[in-house]
Amino acid sequence: MATLAPFGVDVPLSAIDVSDATLYANDSWRPVFARLRAEAPVHFQANSPFGPYWSVTRHADIMAVEARPDIFSSSHEFGGITIVDLFGEFNLPQFIAMDRPRHGEQRRVVAPAFGPSQIARMATEVRKRTCELLDGLPVGEAFDWVDRVSIELTTGMLAILFDYPWEKRRDLTLWSDWGGDIEAALNPDTNLIRHQHLLDMTHALDELMAQRKAQPPGDDLISAMAHSDAMGDMPFQERTGNYILLIVGGNDTTRNSMSGLVEAFNRFDGEWARLEADPALIGNAVSEVIRWQTPLSHMRRTAVADADIAGVPVKKGDKIVVWYISGNRDDDVFPDAERFDVSRANARRHLSFGFGVHRCVGARLAELQVSILIEELLARRLFPRQIGEATRVAQCFVHGFRTLPVVLERR
Ligand code: HEM
Repeated sequence: MATLAPFGVDVPLSAIDVSDATLYANDSWRPVFARLRAEAPVHFQANSPFGPYWSVTRHADIMAVEARPDIFSSSHEFGGITIVDLFGEFNLPQFIAMDRPRHGEQRRVVAPAFGPSQIARMATEVRKRTCELLDGLPVGEAFDWVDRVSIELTTGMLAILFDYPWEKRRDLTLWSDWGGDIEAALNPDTNLIRHQHLLDMTHALDELMAQRKAQPPGDDLISAMAHSDAMGDMPFQERTGNYILLIVGGNDTTRNSMSGLVEAFNRFDGEWARLEADPALIGNAVSEVIRWQTPLSHMRRTAVADADIAGVPVKKGDKIVVWYISGNRDDDVFPDAERFDVSRANARRHLSFGFGVHRCVGARLAELQVSILIEELLARRLFPRQIGEATRVAQCFVHGFRTLPVVLERR
């Protein structure tokens, strides 16, 4: 097993802190989680920059925690759904960070916007934008895949979902980057800047909500919220919270799936050829990309009663972090889990979309976007060849890339 910064395999278990951003910036998290799964699958870290927390690292135990939302709460009242405790004015109510019944009431408002008929409607538009983008890319010249492809396509997908003015779509990227940056939220100076961006976002989307309210109900997500009882008249903080949820939820995650696919297909060279030979594998390959990348490393719950997780007692008030990035590498569920295999029989069992009542409501839209990207690359006989080191997001929540240099090869 490799010994990579910041934790060698020989450090005491009590010293392991998987919230350390360098693990993700250096891409050195694998052996650390492998050790936790083997030696301390429910592990306590008493001293982290985020305070004391439990880590749950095995696939089955993560599902068991998420299956008990009445004991393991998502509520913002206890600090929310990431390892950072956000309280006071920075603690925003949003339905991902609510328990029943309010969670269900609001989820039911947005869910139809991701239903089969809406997905079919968006597919045409997503494909059109993807084709336009691919046709404008240089072949045989170096460029940054993150900026030119992943960010651009994801932002476009959200603009379609919200029916947001196309020419202003990069607003969504800016707000998502600040909204999802939990390390920035920890620092009082950067948190003020973050707060200003979020205010700008709320004002812009409020305006859109008011316009949609004045019009007959439409197909887009903003219209669905504007015309609903549960979300048509939310207080300011709750509007901001839910806007961020819908923007960050869809943006960083899908973006990093599209970057992750480049890294995965480059590390496991024969896999792209398998898709070229058998495009019927694309659907499964999309799940395998999302498993392999795991765009969100974790979610957090708070115990609202004394409980046990895999026989380990936890106390009321304890912070419980479920590490999807580890569950998705659990060899008990995914044999040879580190291998990227487009025909992996159970790729769909990945935990990247979470599990239980909060399972990602946008999963189908994300899969659609990634699938169309692969289909259209194959249709053009193009392959994004990685030509240098990626730079990675130094965070323990969003798991992804800042830059990823590629050259498009004609096959
Ligand atoms: C590959 C892409 C994506 C990944 C990996 C992802 C991941 C997740 C995860 C881990 C959760 C929480 C699950 C839990 O707590 O059990 C979640 C919830 C959510 N996601 Fe996604 N997501 C993706 C794409 C999207 C898209 C495209 C949207 C919409 C624009 C979206 C919107 C949401 C919302 C609104 C929730 C809250 C659901 C609830 O609390 O009921 N996500 N997502």
